[in-house]
Amino acid sequence: MKYALITGASRGIGKAIALQLANQGFHILLNYRSNKKAAEETANLIKKEAISCKLLPFDVSDRETVEQSLVDFQNNNPEAEIEIIVNNAGITKDGLFMWMKPEDWHSVINTNLNGFYNVTRPLLKNMLTRRSGRIINVVSLSGLKGNAGQVNYSAAKGAVVAATKALAQEIGKRGITVNAVAPGFIISDMTTNFDEKELKKSIPLNRFGKAEEVASLVGFLASENAGYITGEVININGGLYS
Ligand SMILES: NC(=O)c1ccc[n+]([C@@H]2O[C@H](COP(=O)([O-])OP(=O)(O)OC[C@H]3O[C@@H](n4cnc5c(N)ncnc54)[C@H](OP(=O)(O)O)[C@@H]3O)[C@@H](O)[C@H]2O)c1
Repeated sequence: MKYALITGASRGIGKAIALQLANQGFHILLNYRSNKKAAEETANLIKKEAISCKLLPFDVSDRETVEQSLVDFQNNNPEAEIEIIVNNAGITKDGLFMWMKPEDWHSVINTNLNGFYNVTRPLLKNMLTRRSGRIINVVSLSGLKGNAGQVNYSAAKGAVVAATKALAQEIGKRGITVNAVAPGFIISDMTTNFDEKELKKSIPLNRFGKAEEVASLVGFLASENAGYITGEVININGGLYS
């Protein structure tokens, strides 16, 4: 049974990715941190004939818990092959660098960057043995161009971009691809307080993107058709930056 693990999939972009990959025939491992109600609602949308959705709550920044949850899942479901990992869980703690509290620096690095390590590394051995798999990291425009007020977030996402390129070179020979998608402004809880009317003036396509549009790109990278793409960072930002 082929599974796709999507971190941070109770809401927003992760939820849309989980629905997309379920439509492509993958069983879903749905990770979230604390919003059980939203996770259960998403799981109910996913579950349909022949497609299962298992909830896997953990905080991606908590390495030991992540590893234990993944080991437990694999031991309890020996037939399950986690073919796709989508590292999507992410947070922002914006503020000027001059005033940035250590906890705002560390929590953003721990979730966005260390989460990638904590989730991906324990699952890699099975992918290497099977000689197949797709790793897709959700980064951000901020990690490519930098963004004032987001030094912590830009640093974390930029580091995941570099890790994507490095890991792609390390494991390409085993038939595993590693890519990143870099959204600009996407409608979700993360951007609820943003002034869309003002910000969209700078976006050539004159609007924020939809979670489903990011999900569609991730779905392509997870598909057979994307088998020769690796080490890439694909922008999805309405033309804001390329
Ligand atoms: N929205 C944008 O404009 C935008 C732009 C560029 C990049 N991105 C990136 O896209 C990804 C998804 O963003 P979004 O806008 O969909 O965010 P969102 O609506 O705030 O949803 C965040 C999701 O991540 C989960 N999460 C947060 N911290 C976690 C942790 N430590 N461990 C496990 N799960 C955690 C949340 O779970 P709970 O429900 O349990 O809290 C939720 O499912 C993030 O990596 C973000 O940086 C977003």
